[in-house]
Amino acid sequence: TIRRITAPQIAARKGDTPIVALTAYSAPMAAAVDPHAEVILVGDSLGMVVHGLPSTLGVTLEMMILHGQAVMRGSARALVVIDMPFGSYEESPEQAFRNAARVMAETGAGAVKLEGGARMAPSIRFLTDRGIPVMAHIGLTPQSTNTLGGFRTQGRDQATWPAHLADAQAVAEAGAFSVVIEGVTEALADRLTEAVAIPTIGIGASACCDGQILVLDDMLGLSGRVPRFVQKFGDLGPRTDEAIAAYAQAVRDRSFPGPDNLYR
Ligand code: KIV
Ligand code: NA
Repeated sequence: TIRRITAPQIAARKGDTPIVALTAYSAPMAAAVDPHAEVILVGDSLGMVVHGLPSTLGVTLEMMILHGQAVMRGSARALVVIDMPFGSYEESPEQAFRNAARVMAETGAGAVKLEGGARMAPSIRFLTDRGIPVMAHIGLTPQSTNTLGGFRTQGRDQATWPAHLADAQAVAEAGAFSVVIEGVTEALADRLTEAVAIPTIGIGASACCDGQILVLDDMLGLSGRVPRFVQKFGDLGPRTDEAIAAYAQAVRDRSFPGPDNLYR
């Protein structure tokens, strides 16, 4: 059996070659990502991507655990990190530990991720002191979109930089093994990356981050319109449509099933 990459091994990659991270929500997609990535994130983006929800706010702990179990079954080498969904950790360090422990115990994943900087530092410390590696997530934090006032790039106003720096330093000092930096200007992402001793994983951030992450479906071209920070490395959306259209046509004209598909 292949030993999995651990959270401390990722933490040790600060300033090293870039960390490759992608999301996955299912066993076959995890199997496809596993040979290429060091980190697989079971992101709460699965609420929109898989379940058709309008935002991540309706995602439950049960959904994260089910998809986390599938991703663990499909992968063997990458560190699997599971997002703590909205409402499952913000109340107190104790609530965060109780629910994160359930995620770890029921999935076998190696770490959890939660959104928030300085305000979440006591919870990050509480979890890491009790055996749960935590990936932090700062900058544009989608679970706070209602208080942030929408999906706005953070750090355009340099007056906000000290708060973002304080967030990055607080999560690093609290023991986070890495931090996702989402939706910030390149200059701020570079500043945050040089300010902390843990790897920064960028999404809509900077090529100078210690790693990059994208939503798998977005980069495969399965998500339709995507934000500017996504590069479509594949074009599976149109290809999927073509394949389904070809199947429908073959059924209608009785060319499927053909001789190769029949038992005679
Ligand atoms: O939910 C998610 O997929 C994420 C990544 C985009 C960082 O949090
Ligand atoms: Na997320």
